[in-house]
Amino acid sequence: MRLDRFLSNQPQFSRQQVRLLLIEKRIRVDGRVVSDPHHEVRDFSRIEYDAQLLQAGKPARYFMLHKPPGCVSATQDPEHPTVLDLLDEPDKHDLHIAGRLDFNTSGLMLITNDGHWSRHLTQPQTKMPKVYYVETEQVIGAEYVTQFNEGIYFAYEDLTTQPAGLQLLGPCSARLSIVEGRYHQAKRMSGYFNNKVVRLHRESIGPLVLDSQLAPGQYRPLSPEEVGLF
Ligand code: URA
Repeated sequence: MRLDRFLSNQPQFSRQQVRLLLIEKRIRVDGRVVSDPHHEVRDFSRIEYDAQLLQAGKPARYFMLHKPPGCVSATQDPEHPTVLDLLDEPDKHDLHIAGRLDFNTSGLMLITNDGHWSRHLTQPQTKMPKVYYVETEQVIGAEYVTQFNEGIYFAYEDLTTQPAGLQLLGPCSARLSIVEGRYHQAKRMSGYFNNKVVRLHRESIGPLVLDSQLAPGQYRPLSPEEVGLF
């Protein structure tokens, strides 16, 4: 929300006063004087008028979870455990997942209450690389590398996937880097060659790598430096 709108919503100020307060540099956001009426403020912003606190700002929360296979990337599920069940945190209803993984996929999952942060991370335009360790039923041929790089046509969405990086690690294992998050993307790309994915594990999202200290099912808060990577 714009700062002038936030201030006008306060019962104590008229619109006229809001303009003056800003010009007179009496409003501080997160400890800094702000006079721009268009300045964006959020639920996380601390907003002060002289010595009066108008909004304390709720704490932004960011977690990295090592998702185990066999749990659902959703906040609720009638049948299966969800990733949120693994978190021992207050106000879980406030949290959401930044980039889902399939039921049997394991690996790095980010969970937050900051929609702005997660949107940036997950929107296709950001082209955030996501790296997966993949194991397949049959041998992965060298032709996969070329095809994945050229893109694979997904008829359902009527689109061709963005260039993806594939590094062969063994006869049936590889490291895959994709910049989108299409439904079952890695499995469908492998499915182009009729090769079933039997293990899928997300190792990293952009510069953030899954902490090797986290066993499946464990999580930890992100450091401010890690949050600032995105
Ligand atoms: N691609 C898939 O097929 N599944 C995932 O969980 C992630 C990427």
